[in-house]
Amino acid sequence: MSFLIRPMTRTDIPEALALQILAFPLPFSEDLHWSPEHLSGHIEIFPEGQFVAEADGRLAGSCSNAIVSEEGWQAHGNWGSTMGGPFLRKHTLEGSTLYGLDITVHPDFRRIGIGRAFYEARFALVSRLGLTRYGTGCRMPDYRSYTENHTSIDIAVYASKVVEGEIVDRTLTPLLRYGLHFLGVIEEYMEDVESANAAALLERVV
Ligand SMILES: CC(C)(COP(=O)(O)OP(=O)(O)OC[C@H]1O[C@@H](n2cnc3c(N)ncnc32)[C@H](O)[C@@H]1OP(=O)(O)O)[C@@H](O)C(=O)NCCC(=O)NCCS
Repeated sequence: MSFLIRPMTRTDIPEALALQILAFPLPFSEDLHWSPEHLSGHIEIFPEGQFVAEADGRLAGSCSNAIVSEEGWQAHGNWGSTMGGPFLRKHTLEGSTLYGLDITVHPDFRRIGIGRAFYEARFALVSRLGLTRYGTGCRMPDYRSYTENHTSIDIAVYASKVVEGEIVDRTLTPLLRYGLHFLGVIEEYMEDVESANAAALLERVV
């Protein structure tokens, strides 16, 4: 099936909000989904960093980004302190790092390369804007079920095993396939019960 990656417009917002619910279902906190005001604000402050995928006349995915300062990136803080909250108050065009906020692909359109195409668009944007890197904190939502079904392991050990290909995680595994380099685990990254509130810190220097 063919699809198109293009900038998000305000007309896309209702469908993009519906995608949040499908891509981040409970137990992920609904309080962390974007609101119409958040997405509208992102389009206002950084239009070239907001993407959607269109397939079959439908919104098949969305992907939000901001730019953080080198100092902000190197601090490797949690989501809120790095981005300044959902209105992205820390976004700066003077920064060094394109920071991935989220990526969602509609369940009807998964495994056909839309996630990979979003990442190609992200890497191309890093080059076009003369930035140093793409970076993000990545959920590890299969951690909880893994520890329920196996001997309990620390989230950092779990992440290393996913990196080595010993464990498949439905979110971290695809992102590693996109050529991101694993730097470590950030504890207390955001409220995320499936990932023990932690995230894998990932980057690609372009
Ligand atoms: C993660 C997500 C964005 C992947 O999108 P996608 O369009 O289905 O991924 P792609 O088709 O580009 O696949 C990319 C690679 O990841 C692999 N992959 C995709 N989903 C996978 C899964 N559930 N388990 C294992 N590998 C997977 C594919 O096999 C492919 O590998 P390959 O290129 O080596 O064959 C999508 O599943 C999603 O929206 N998940 C819910 C939201 C989320 O967790 N977002 C990320 C955190 S913000």
